[in-house]
Amino acid sequence: MSPRAAISVDDLRRQARARIPKFAFDFVDGGAGTEDGLARNGDAFRDACLVPRVLVNSAAPANTRRAFLGREWSVPFGIAPIGLPGLAWPGADTAMARAAQWAGAPFTASTPATTTLEDLKAAAPDSAFFQLYVGKSPEITDDLIARAEAAGYETLVVTADVPRPGKRLRDLRNGFALPLRFTPRLLSDLATHPAWSLATLRHGAPRFANLARYAGDGTGARSLAELMAGQSSGRLDWDLLGRIRERWRGTLVLKGVMHPEDAVRAAAQGVDAVQVSNHGGRQFNAAPATLVALREVRAAVPPGFPVAVDGGVRSGEDVLKALDAGADFVFLGRPFLYALGALGTDGPADLMTLLAAELEVAMAQTGRQRLDPRRSTHKAEQREQDLHAAG
Ligand SMILES: Cc1cc2nc3c(=O)[nH]c(=O)nc-3n(C[C@H](O)[C@H](O)[C@H](O)COP(=O)(O)O)c2cc1C
Repeated sequence: MSPRAAISVDDLRRQARARIPKFAFDFVDGGAGTEDGLARNGDAFRDACLVPRVLVNSAAPANTRRAFLGREWSVPFGIAPIGLPGLAWPGADTAMARAAQWAGAPFTASTPATTTLEDLKAAAPDSAFFQLYVGKSPEITDDLIARAEAAGYETLVVTADVPRPGKRLRDLRNGFALPLRFTPRLLSDLATHPAWSLATLRHGAPRFANLARYAGDGTGARSLAELMAGQSSGRLDWDLLGRIRERWRGTLVLKGVMHPEDAVRAAAQGVDAVQVSNHGGRQFNAAPATLVALREVRAAVPPGFPVAVDGGVRSGEDVLKALDAGADFVFLGRPFLYALGALGTDGPADLMTLLAAELEVAMAQTGRQRLDPRRSTHKAEQREQDLHAAG
């Protein structure tokens, strides 16, 4: 049966669940603890409404473009950083990078990506951001920043919400650990999902491509896994963020901010944007919904300070709800992994098309021909806005 085009994120999730092994689906889909925090993210979007407007001529398609961090994007949403995306489908992060480049949307290459940051920048030369985990080793952190700079990345996204590894009960129950242990249960999981298993066999098992060079001879899966565990070192604090700010000449985003005081402090410390995020409910079960935190952060930061959000966004309507709640830009994580699991490497581009179409319909239903521009404090954007106003 050939996979069909995406009709909704929920459908993609159902198809992915059937098509990829249970341990891989649970890694992608699961959250911390009892997953109440994960559920809160989605519930907040389901509870929010958009009020329809009538008699606004919508014969022409609505314009979904939005400026963010110094450039205008075709859509106001992009792809959040994902570690080990190759578990959803082999070749996942290259497929996501290409889809973002094609759609005029940002793609965030993660530190624990399964393709190197250099190759991902080549796949998405105009769209790629690099996400940094500040791990135990200062040398590795410095080297990752230097590599991102050398590869031509302009935006560095520092993830701040992993002081400790998240406790994900599904992974613990499945005995999921790296390197994979080929227990009878895992073998039967693989045998009952042959399309994924064969594709993975052909492509090779997913590996932490950015970190391989720091793990001795680069083949030691166990030491790589240990390196990865060391990414939740708890070492990142305001002083170290200040040093990263001095070191990185490009745009700096702090991801994983939930408290308005943290957002205000980040803005004061010269960070260019914050990304309101609770890691998709994967780190801390008690965290509030990101849509709720977004409103508080927006109210607290200086006017025009760029604020992005992720967590629980499952449709173009949700994207518009997040923008209405004060987001400059919106990111999605799991939906792109569901698309990969369901449709393979065509999935991310299909999902981009689906989300853009849903957003356009939501804009027509709410009587908008374009997205309201946000007055940004980002220097390059201000210049553009001033020129626009003058001309
Ligand atoms: C499988 C998976 C791996 C992730 N890996 C990372 C990562 O390496 N770095 C990071 O900053 N966030 C990571 N995240 C969090 C996402 O960037 C994002 O915050 C989250 O997925 C948004 O929620 P959503 O999945 O509901 O859209 C990961 C999320 C998932 C689902």
